[in-house]
Amino acid sequence: MTLTAAGLGSLLAGCGKDEEPGGVDLRNPPKGPIVLGFSQVGAEGGWRRANTASIRKAAVRNRIDLNFKDAGGDPKKQIADVHSFIDARVSVIAFAPVVETGWGEVLRRARDARIPVVLTDRLIDETDTSLWASSIGAEFASEGNLAAIYLENDYAGTTGTVNVVEILGANGATPTKLRAEGFAATAAKTGRLNIVDQATGDWTKDGGKAAMRELLERNKRIDAVFAQNDDMGLGAVIALEAAGKKPGSAPKIVTVDGTKAALQGLADGKLTYVIECSPEIGEPLMSVVVDLFHGGRVPKRIPSEKAVFDAETAAEALLDRTY
Ligand code: AHR
Repeated sequence: MTLTAAGLGSLLAGCGKDEEPGGVDLRNPPKGPIVLGFSQVGAEGGWRRANTASIRKAAVRNRIDLNFKDAGGDPKKQIADVHSFIDARVSVIAFAPVVETGWGEVLRRARDARIPVVLTDRLIDETDTSLWASSIGAEFASEGNLAAIYLENDYAGTTGTVNVVEILGANGATPTKLRAEGFAATAAKTGRLNIVDQATGDWTKDGGKAAMRELLERNKRIDAVFAQNDDMGLGAVIALEAAGKKPGSAPKIVTVDGTKAALQGLADGKLTYVIECSPEIGEPLMSVVVDLFHGGRVPKRIPSEKAVFDAETAAEALLDRTY
């Protein structure tokens, strides 16, 4: 028998250390249905669409009423959407923040209304960590570390520096900052990878293509590209091929996410490595939502899965990759 998060909820409530209580009055236990107000960043690429699908599917499976709002990449709209969840008195609020800043006021309002908050995917820049009960997502800095480690390893036994350009996600988002920091920190350790330039690709394929064109214009020698997500990396492939280059080998390209399109790009030799950042966080999210609804305690941080793919492992993973 497979238990859903709703079924597991009452079993798990109250377990483990490093946990936060939900904002529920236990003398007056809530009655169902559970309503989750969820605010999504947008629909900027394959990863985000898979993330939305995972959340929608898990909500249905766990009999949770999902009040879903798409911020369309607009931080102001996203904050207004979260206010509307408070007005609607949802049971729990979750959101994947477009940007890290600007969250204090609305989250204090949610706390005053005793509505627990869960951060998904990304983080926020608030020192008062009591404003959210839990966060679920990837360790973005370590994805940057891994990208640099795998790239650097390819040059073992050779001499000279490797000129790397970086295609960044949207400004102000946690993965943009932390993937860049992780990559730079590992690169700095050996001094082998020389980050010569950066351009913003806004997480999209078109953005990645435009950023790559800019980088090609500004830089004579590019040995490797670190694209902070798959869509931008696949856009860069188009720009590089149009410029007569052989992406995947000259230059090498490392991306982050692990979508089907990128794994296919790896298997076809157009990308060099893909660092996985799993978008499938719907089930752990619903488990936390159920626990919070019942006044249980939940882990403050729940990390998502990661892996590194090359051409060989991508071919295997493609057999059952759904997104
Ligand atoms: O926050 C996760 C990042 O956001 C993914 O890497 C990217 O594809 C998405 O837009």
